[in-house]
Amino acid sequence: MARETRFLGIETSCDETAAAVFTDDGRVFSSVVHSQHSVHARFGGVVPELAARAHLSRMIPVIDEALKSAGVRLADIGAIAVHHRPGLVGALVIGVSVAKMLSVALGVPLLGVSHLEGHVYASRMASGKDIYPCVALVASGGHTVLFHAKGPLELLRIGTTRDDAAGEAFDKAAALLELGFPGGPAIEKAALKGRPGVFHLPRPMIHEGLDFSFSGLKTAVAVAWRKVEDGISCSEQLFQAKANLAAELQAAIGDVLVAKCRRALEATGCSRLAVGGGVVANGLFRSRVSELVREGFEVIIPPLNLCTDNAAMAAVAVEAWRQGRFAPADLDAEPA
Ligand code: KG4
Ligand code: ZN
Repeated sequence: MARETRFLGIETSCDETAAAVFTDDGRVFSSVVHSQHSVHARFGGVVPELAARAHLSRMIPVIDEALKSAGVRLADIGAIAVHHRPGLVGALVIGVSVAKMLSVALGVPLLGVSHLEGHVYASRMASGKDIYPCVALVASGGHTVLFHAKGPLELLRIGTTRDDAAGEAFDKAAALLELGFPGGPAIEKAALKGRPGVFHLPRPMIHEGLDFSFSGLKTAVAVAWRKVEDGISCSEQLFQAKANLAAELQAAIGDVLVAKCRRALEATGCSRLAVGGGVVANGLFRSRVSELVREGFEVIIPPLNLCTDNAAMAAVAVEAWRQGRFAPADLDAEPA
């Protein structure tokens, strides 16, 4: 009986260096993620050149760890999968170069897939069943996109952000409020002690189409903060004001994302919603979006480790492999 094919997946699109071992029949043997948060924290955002350098130093150790914890040797790998788009070009180049080199050295096929296809496929992996067709929301640090997902490799974009991504709004607001990096988890933590509604932030474009806009929200946080900051002298009050603002920001972003998901489901006639990307790790968003179930929709929310960047979701490459869609020798890193 033919043995399953073992894939090595590689992810370096932003600030996580990740590798995973999975099989063509859907089993994930290992998934190792090395986060660069400590490298970027003092800048309040990802610095592209530092990201590339950190990938360069961590890529081989991360692959080594993924192979070891899967209990396989490099020689057991039958295909290499890499997210070659979209992302920071210097960061992507590291993963793509290593993937190409391994594919040539081992004499195995190379598959190039999109990081966004991976984020959607994480729902397929989490649910263990076919999820297509569906509406898919990917909300991360670099993207906020709605897709009509007709198949794993057939994502039709039906909405996108016109300026900042949702994760960027979290990150920039957290930097402004000096809450730390990455901003999403920092805002979520601060919001636990605050109340939405004390401050009033806009819900940008909530009644308008399927596109998003989050840059105004970042400005609104800055304006609201400037108004109260000067009038507060006690550190406890300052902390409470930050917590209330964080809670309102989280609610505003959650309201917009859920409203757009609902509109996309209605517009496409799909009954199933898949969500992915780092912002989907947000607890308030997870509980809000699951309320769509009461309206008759099926909602798939992957576990946290499959929402934030990882290489296991590069298993979408198995679909490309089945279709014989192998990457050419000149596979490039594509930032957009
Ligand atoms: O998908 P991801 O790990 O990387 C990109 O592809 O960008 O998403 C990272 C983004 C960051 O902006 C981060 O602040 C946000 O996801 N994020 C969160 C949470 N965890 C990560 N946003 C809100 N709440 C969270 N718990
Ligand atoms: Zn991502």
